[in-house]
Amino acid sequence: KDMSLREQSIVLIGFMGVGKTTIGKAVAKKLYRDFIDIDEEIEKKFNMPPSEIFKEYGESVFRQTEKELIIDACKQKLKIISVGGGAFLQDEVREACLSDCIIFFLDLSWESWKERISLLIDSRPVLQGKNIDQIKELFENRQPIYKEHHSRVVTDDLPVEEVADYITASLK
Ligand code: S3P
Repeated sequence: KDMSLREQSIVLIGFMGVGKTTIGKAVAKKLYRDFIDIDEEIEKKFNMPPSEIFKEYGESVFRQTEKELIIDACKQKLKIISVGGGAFLQDEVREACLSDCIIFFLDLSWESWKERISLLIDSRPVLQGKNIDQIKELFENRQPIYKEHHSRVVTDDLPVEEVADYITASLK
């Protein structure tokens, strides 16, 4: 690895709606680094939100774009990168992040996550048409993937600033 530890970009992973974007922005501000939100980059590229892209072009086009943008972002230094909750299902995404970045998993319990569901349901295509049991199953199926591939973990429903402090402190 030719990138020094201090220059490595940070990637935030975790299920939809755990706060990757909000916390990513707070961390970027604290560290005076640029923030890259992969969902937002995809949205800019297609000029439509993920839900529309899923409808117009299908999930595979979304995933391919997501993969390319993450691989690109990981090559850059000193970034804070937030990736969508489904990104780590792709081998190449995990490999790119694991080889070049420090990965933080924002680990929210199902109980806390459930409280946020109404805020998410309309904008998240993978939740649409699913009942609560099916969503819980998706949540549980994805946990091991996040758990196995992070370098560091942030647990629980802490205030944004506390999580951001924890992340920046753990880099020192
Ligand atoms: C997805 C999560 C979303 C977005 C897309 C698919 C997923 O990102 O990439 O709707 O499969 O979990 P967030 O994790 O930011 O909600």
